[in-house]
Amino acid sequence: MTIEALRGRIGAELERTRERTCALTDAVDGDDLVKQHSPLMSPLVWDLAHVGNQEELWLVRDVGGLEPVRCDIDHLYDAFKHPRRDRPALPLLDPAQARAYNRTVRDKVLDLLDRTPLEGRPLVDNGFAFGMIAQHEQQHDETMLATHQLRAGAPVLSAPPPPPSRVAVSGEVPVPGGPFRMGTSIEPWALDNERPEHEVDVPAFFLDAAPVTNRRYAEFIADGGYADPRWWTPEGWAHRLDAGLEAPMHWQRDGAGWAYRRFGRVEPIAPDEPVVHVCFHEAKAYATWAGKRLPTEAEWEKAARFDPASGRSRRYPWGDEDPEPHHANLGQRHLSPAPVGAYPDGASPLGIHQLIGDVWEWVDTDFHPYPGFVAFPYREYSEVFFGPAYKVLRGGSFGADPVACRGTFRNWDYPIRRQIFSGFRCARDPLAGEAG
Ligand code: AVJ
Ligand code: FE
Repeated sequence: MTIEALRGRIGAELERTRERTCALTDAVDGDDLVKQHSPLMSPLVWDLAHVGNQEELWLVRDVGGLEPVRCDIDHLYDAFKHPRRDRPALPLLDPAQARAYNRTVRDKVLDLLDRTPLEGRPLVDNGFAFGMIAQHEQQHDETMLATHQLRAGAPVLSAPPPPPSRVAVSGEVPVPGGPFRMGTSIEPWALDNERPEHEVDVPAFFLDAAPVTNRRYAEFIADGGYADPRWWTPEGWAHRLDAGLEAPMHWQRDGAGWAYRRFGRVEPIAPDEPVVHVCFHEAKAYATWAGKRLPTEAEWEKAARFDPASGRSRRYPWGDEDPEPHHANLGQRHLSPAPVGAYPDGASPLGIHQLIGDVWEWVDTDFHPYPGFVAFPYREYSEVFFGPAYKVLRGGSFGADPVACRGTFRNWDYPIRRQIFSGFRCARDPLAGEAG
């Protein structure tokens, strides 16, 4: 890509992302923007000015070396200074001030983009800092979508339904054992925790061809899955009791079946859609009940990237091309997961479907650095989260942007969290004598 093409691409990604941010925040009135819809989430107006503030810190001040737009507000939008539940009480910019601030910052950034060299130092090589800031805003757009899901009141968001199932997908797929290359050292906008590329030996295993569906998950509930500590880890069972978990978040009884509330609309559950809004403990309990287990992070990535024909790791399950709408349910084009079988073009060479998009998939691995990890450009993006407190999620959801959903992308959260668009699929070891 030429430098001019790179500038064009960056400008287009920043503007496309901002349109989504505006759609999510223009959809509700001012009171709704400043109030807190759940103690788990920030007021939407905090996310709004926070994306502008990060853009100011990294692009206006660091890359551009320009005077601050405002330096009196940095502490308000520093995620480490104030936990989410405390943010509504802060003297935040009001909606009009937040929009004006973001506009001022963005105008400076677009001006800077025209004249700043996009090579010569790691922060700007291949437009990295711009890509990081676009992805940061995209991640907050997903967070804001999760806030919308928690919001009470009449629906304000709408989108066309996801495509129907086109092929039957069921059962599990053998993934051959042996080494593969995990992570990346060449993907220009990959974040620090995805680096460096390294070899991992993954023994043969079986992976479900699709995420676990609402139909199967409802069977787990109907079989007393939430009442039987045998399926749960001690930590998971303690949380189940403490939090009173009985079904995925947003599910409610509907006669003999289930309905859920989605962005303000109550609908019967769609049996063939991947289950969403389950925590790690629920995912793990289901897998144990099913006689299986969750995949490890390395297993998930091998299934998503390893091409048995060439022995190479690719960017996505379908190959190296950037995601197109026919590959995966990404980017908030639809406001729900798509049914299993809706994306045959996105399947891996081994025939594993919907690894990218639809729902984030919990894996049974703590968030840890890859060998050779170097924090870049700041410790607070990933490094401070490494350790046993967080579990990894892979693959992106219908709410995640295609730019941020590389096959190497790593998300993480506490194992009790389920306000995110989280689901899972199961894995298992080969039986004695069974080919892997
Ligand atoms: C990668 C989704 C866990 O939302 O906490 C946003 C992304 N980092 N602002 C988060 C992030 C800084 C992060 N996750
Ligand atoms: Fe942030």
